Amino acid sequence: MEVVRHLHRCLEELKRNDCLELVWEPDGRERAVIRAMCREFAFSHQRLQPDVAVVLSRFAYVRRDGDAGVLESPEALCRIEFTCAETWHCLGILSRPTSIAMAVAAGQFGIAELADLLWRTRFVELADVAEPAERASWEFHDLLFHWRSRAGRVSGPQGGTYRHMQRATSPPAIKPRMSDDTVLLARPVDEDPPRESSLESLMERRRSVREQDGRAISAEQLGRLLYRVARVQRRLPGEYQELLLRPIPAAGAIHELEFYPVVGRCDGLDRGLYHYHCELHTLHRLATPESDVEALLADAALSWGKPDDPPQVLIILASRLPRLAWKYEGIAYRLTLLNAGAAIQSLYLLATEMGLACSAIGGGDSGVFASATALDPLVETSVAEFAVGSKRG
Ligand SMILES: Cc1cc2nc3c(=O)[nH]c(=O)nc-3n(C[C@H](O)[C@H](O)[C@H](O)COP(=O)(O)O)c2cc1C
Repeated sequence: MEVVRHLHRCLEELKRNDCLELVWEPDGRERAVIRAMCREFAFSHQRLQPDVAVVLSRFAYVRRDGDAGVLESPEALCRIEFTCAETWHCLGILSRPTSIAMAVAAGQFGIAELADLLWRTRFVELADVAEPAERASWEFHDLLFHWRSRAGRVSGPQGGTYRHMQRATSPPAIKPRMSDDTVLLARPVDEDPPRESSLESLMERRRSVREQDGRAISAEQLGRLLYRVARVQRRLPGEYQELLLRPIPAAGAIHELEFYPVVGRCDGLDRGLYHYHCELHTLHRLATPESDVEALLADAALSWGKPDDPPQVLIILASRLPRLAWKYEGIAYRLTLLNAGAAIQSLYLLATEMGLACSAIGGGDSGVFASATALDPLVETSVAEFAVGSKRG
């Protein structure tokens, strides 16, 4: 038994490090290679029944990667490289509702096995089931961009790898003048220095500060940050949809962003993950396992380059994208990221004024957030992170 457990642990490790390839040979001939994209990957145990109609997921896509053609989907936890031409042909058949029985009757060799493989890896789905509203909210490019640009579900490197360093020099930080038709602008700082407490002065002083003090940030400070950035100032009677006003701007006044402080160390608050109720101005502690709290803080600690000094509080911004997609077509995910950017700059300015250490965090694992909150990522998913703590000195 111990040997089996050890084998499982080794397989998990291989999966996590993107080293596990499964070769699919239903008839003794290699037809596809399946590569796990994260450690959660596992084949579904549910086999596909021959008379059930299935269809390729609308999120599945095929692309060339190097000299291989691969099938990917933001909903699948693996990618499949097809190594034989007939398999591509079968894939085309599955882009229309088909049951295994129908395909076999039409004499398509190998389609039963392929449909079963794609079913058990979430590339095909039931054809006759209406799509839930929250999933219908996600357009193809939105879901693809979301999962491909967050940590957790990406095979291969991600983050600051400088992959083009050997091939080309970086474009310069400052663009050369674009014409000689020059207009000199007044420099406000030289001619009219801003008052210490003004927004202009704050803009000048704002910096990312990653050195935290031994004493913890207080619940009062965290509350102030959330109040000034995220609370609801007013409900607006929208013509078709409930709208809000908050101190931060948001596309269409829809305000789909939710704020979740992950508290590592905060005077007056227990360690854990909380949801901020933006109208009541209250925090609500979730029943999150300590391992998830730890993982979220450890991930942020790595991102801000201090693996042994996680942020005292990590504020996770999550998007209820279906609220935004209810109005906006084709641009919903883009708008949510723009909204998150506006929120992050507001947090930066306020944290600077309050004398706190703070930094935006560019990584963030939406898979861990989903498990920590038990939220369906199609309903609400993390899109941005901001770290705060008390400042050293
Ligand atoms: C979208 C975004 C993502 C960022 N991600 C990180 C990060 O993961 N880790 C980090 O230490 N700083 C991060 N930063 C902070 C930048 O490194 C910082 O803004 C930059 O170095 C300029 O310094 P300044 O903020 O003091 O002006 C991020 C900033 C932004 C706006």
